[in-house]
Amino acid sequence: MLVSAKEMLNKARDGKYAVGQFNINNLEWTKSILQTAEELKSPVILGVSEGAGKYMCGYKTVVGMVNGMLEEMKITVPVALHLDHGSYEGAKACIEAGFSSVMFDGSHYPIDENVTKTTELVKICNDKGLSIEAEVGSIGGEEDGVVGMGECADPKECKMIADLGVTMLAAGIGNIHGKYPDNWAGLSFETLEAVKNEVGDMPLVLHGGTGIPADMIKKAISLGVAKINVNTECQLAFQEATRKYIEAGKDKEGKGFDPRKLLAPGAEAIKATVKEKMELFGSVGKA
Ligand code: 13P
Repeated sequence: MLVSAKEMLNKARDGKYAVGQFNINNLEWTKSILQTAEELKSPVILGVSEGAGKYMCGYKTVVGMVNGMLEEMKITVPVALHLDHGSYEGAKACIEAGFSSVMFDGSHYPIDENVTKTTELVKICNDKGLSIEAEVGSIGGEEDGVVGMGECADPKECKMIADLGVTMLAAGIGNIHGKYPDNWAGLSFETLEAVKNEVGDMPLVLHGGTGIPADMIKKAISLGVAKINVNTECQLAFQEATRKYIEAGKDKEGKGFDPRKLLAPGAEAIKATVKEKMELFGSVGKA
């Protein structure tokens, strides 16, 4: 059964580790992530962007697939199904469809409007026992066609949003989605500390987990980050393994064209990436 992310994140915050949110794109992705979480006895959050939701034929399809897998694969670790960077309407649709967690990304609204919309969604989520993530300070990079520059959040605004009763808070600290440019200045731990001082116990979320050096990840966790989002790194691992398979001509050998064979190296590569991240984040054995 899907669970809210609240308990797993509060435990992570107290235990000084982070739970990974891994974004899913299809059945192979979801299966690889769930298999790894179960093998490593790690809690996990499956992230679904609005674009990926559309690609997978809508939120109800996603909920059906994930619930089916939890049962058929006999998954025992805590799993949350979470809308990533949701719009107000998207969050409502996911709640309706059976997601156990949503992110409302109101970071592009003026703070007052972010507050109003977040307040309304917090109430709905609380009533249903779902977790809700809010964002302050837009995360840079490209996500579903929207490009942000990687702002640093205003700690006072973080406090305003945290006080609305959200479960976890994403604060921009110079992180961006996708690959980091060579001239990236790194995470702003100054901002992270200032945000933490304002929001107290609230588990913090670090987006753009792809390509952040291990020492920065560990420092971020020590300063209150309890959830780390990874998307691009699984995509790159899948791409590289699939490319190797085709370039080696394996799709032309025997039944190598069978999608169950063609997609297998990519699926294994996703598993390896997820394992590496869970080990780095410290969530192994915490289920
Ligand atoms: P990356 O694609 O950079 O790993 O970021 C993922 C993310 O933050 C999803 O919200």
